[in-house]
Amino acid sequence: MRDVIISILLFMIICGFGFEGVSSKPQVPCYFIFGDSLSDNGNNNGLISTAKVNYSPYGVDFPAGIPTGRFSNGRTAVDIIAQKLGFKRYIPPFKEAMKSLHKFKGVNYASGGAGILPETGRLLGGRVCLNQQMKNHKIIISKLAFKNGGKAMAVLNKCLYTMNIGNNDYINNYFMPEDYISSHLYTPRQYAALLIRHYSHQLKILYQNGARKVALFGLGLIGCTPAEIAIHGATNGSACVDNINAAVLIFNDKLISLVDKLNARHTDANFTYINNAGMQLTTSQGFKVFNSSCCKVRSDGLCQAASSPCKNRSEYVFWDSFHPTEAVNAITGRRAYLKEESSDAHPMDISHLVKVQ
Ligand SMILES: *[C@@H]1O[C@H](CO)[C@@H](O)[C@H](O)[C@H]1NC(C)=O
Ligand SMILES: *[C@@H]1O[C@H](CO)[C@@H](O)[C@H](O)[C@H]1NC(C)=O
Ligand SMILES: *[C@@H]1O[C@H](CO)[C@@H](O)[C@H](O)[C@H]1NC(C)=O
Ligand SMILES: *[C@@H]1O[C@H](CO)[C@@H](O)[C@H](O)[C@H]1NC(C)=O
Repeated sequence: MRDVIISILLFMIICGFGFEGVSSKPQVPCYFIFGDSLSDNGNNNGLISTAKVNYSPYGVDFPAGIPTGRFSNGRTAVDIIAQKLGFKRYIPPFKEAMKSLHKFKGVNYASGGAGILPETGRLLGGRVCLNQQMKNHKIIISKLAFKNGGKAMAVLNKCLYTMNIGNNDYINNYFMPEDYISSHLYTPRQYAALLIRHYSHQLKILYQNGARKVALFGLGLIGCTPAEIAIHGATNGSACVDNINAAVLIFNDKLISLVDKLNARHTDANFTYINNAGMQLTTSQGFKVFNSSCCKVRSDGLCQAASSPCKNRSEYVFWDSFHPTEAVNAITGRRAYLKEESSDAHPMDISHLVKVQ
């Protein structure tokens, strides 16, 4: 009898029914993150780039208060999403994930300065553009397939994939007419169509590699960032640079159409759109300061190294001249996971996306 009890206990421990209970298991077996500086958690640290932030005061509110390469004072929206999904650790950057495939929970491929187009952000130096993020994903998948054989695909089908990219195709490309040719070649509508064509191609590759639960973040109102207001000046009678926001909203409209098209084409997959811009409008109303950064910034809009940031980060929308504070990221992550207004996600939020069979 005692032996039976011991083997039952042993069985429970081996199968993960430990003292923390079944609910401690994450809702998906793994989480893959693609994107730019809004999601980067250290992928740029080893690159020669001006778009890297592994220095103080970045990370001042991160556990232990150390810089990690995240472009914020604390967690990013994808960190929050990972926590909501029940992951106990943050999803590691690509190089770290490669070194710890034995305890695989996903990969963060995101890179500051990166865009949908390979040339986007070229003036910033090294960065991992979307093409290369997809190549890195294929490397990871081939290693997993080698390790797990035929079971790998079934697992990849159940994982969550989020993409938050395209901001730099405007900030570090289209709206820098002296350095990039795109605005001389294309109207905002043509440019958005070009970006969506590239994006659509990458999403097809993602699908072919087993992705079945994909959330695509729309772009934020870039024209309301202190950096763009400093460069272009707010539009007369507006708090923001209106033509930048108008261009971004064209992209977002086309992204929603793409989501609808992908859902119609791939009936065994679910794609969803997260309404960043819409959430930004209601979120910023809850903050005291929305037109200047919390940290003292350099001319490129990133924080000055070793400078003292504002005392109460929760009062600010912007941490530096481009990136939101953890307080804003927490709201974005929370609402992307579980929508608070029906417009937050289309057709479903992440909590529903991960539950689809
Ligand atoms: C800005 O608005 C003011 C008041 O409405 C107007 O007098 C001025 O001409 C406008 N300036 C420009 C550049 O449109
Ligand atoms: C989600 O995907 C499932 C198939 O996996 C499909 O039956 C369902 O209609 C999809 N839901 C939406 C809202 O697209
Ligand atoms: C920010 O807004 C406040 C209140 O509307 C205003 O007093 C301040 O001058 C603005 N700061 C900048 C940098 O535009
Ligand atoms: C910081 O700001 C938040 C939001 O305005 C407020 O709730 C909180 O009490 C402030 N904290 C301190 C220490 O002043």
